[in-house]
Amino acid sequence: MTESANNPNPLLQCDQVFKQYLLFSKRIEVLHGLSLKVQAGESLTIMGASGAGKSTLLHVLGGLDKPDSGQVIFNGGDIYRLSSRRRSQWLAEEVGFVFQSYHLLPELSIMENVMLPAMSRKGAVHNSARNRAHALELLERVGLAERAQHRSTELSGGEQQRASLARALMNRPSLLLADEPTGNLDSTTGALVLDYLFELKEEYEQTLIVVTHNESVAERTDRKVFLRDGVICS
Ligand SMILES: Nc1ncnc2c1ncn2[C@@H]1O[C@H](COP(=O)(O)OP(=O)(O)OP(=O)(O)O)[C@@H](O)[C@H]1O
Ligand SMILES: [Mg+2]
Repeated sequence: MTESANNPNPLLQCDQVFKQYLLFSKRIEVLHGLSLKVQAGESLTIMGASGAGKSTLLHVLGGLDKPDSGQVIFNGGDIYRLSSRRRSQWLAEEVGFVFQSYHLLPELSIMENVMLPAMSRKGAVHNSARNRAHALELLERVGLAERAQHRSTELSGGEQQRASLARALMNRPSLLLADEPTGNLDSTTGALVLDYLFELKEEYEQTLIVVTHNESVAERTDRKVFLRDGVICS
């Protein structure tokens, strides 16, 4: 993938992204003119020290957090120039997020959690038989079909992470962003979640960006970069 990293038409590209937070009037500079290109179908690992800004970068790349300046370009268009309604639509259709802390809704069943993204699609038919069948198929793929009617609070950490992977794939997104998908799991469960992640990435022909501290995750991706001092170092 090194050669394709120079392809002039990447799926996702950010240019000169700056992002800072204000915390009790203290300025925290996180991203300092960061630029990155990711090709369609590529898998990329982002590593870096705790607090380096990896989650911030993932949120910026996935349309969840607007940078102070700079551009994030997906398929040739700047996602932060879209209206918030169109950006939400883009997010629902093109991006799947696997969060480190799962973010499953406790009042819904696992099946309903997995189906949620389908409900935020334009023209969504809520509860349609097709959505249900697809959600169940995904739950089967991650070994959770029998837990479909359980609440997330009744599942172990590894099961919740697998459910959140199924949810991220519900809308067949072209871009999958995973923030420390094995961070809270023991090594056996973590390896199982990774197997599903990479297997489904291939099957769905996705572009994958994964943030991790884990070298064995990095070894499975095409490319690895480091986030240091607010910029990417290869
Ligand atoms: N909403 C926020 N408000 C204020 N500061 C924030 C906010 N989000 C993140 N930060 C700060 O920005 C910096 C980068 O945070 P971020 O979560 O991106 O780091 P990270 O590289 O993902 O770290 P970790 O490996 O521990 O998950 C940290 O110093 C953090 O305290
Ligand atoms: Mg983080």
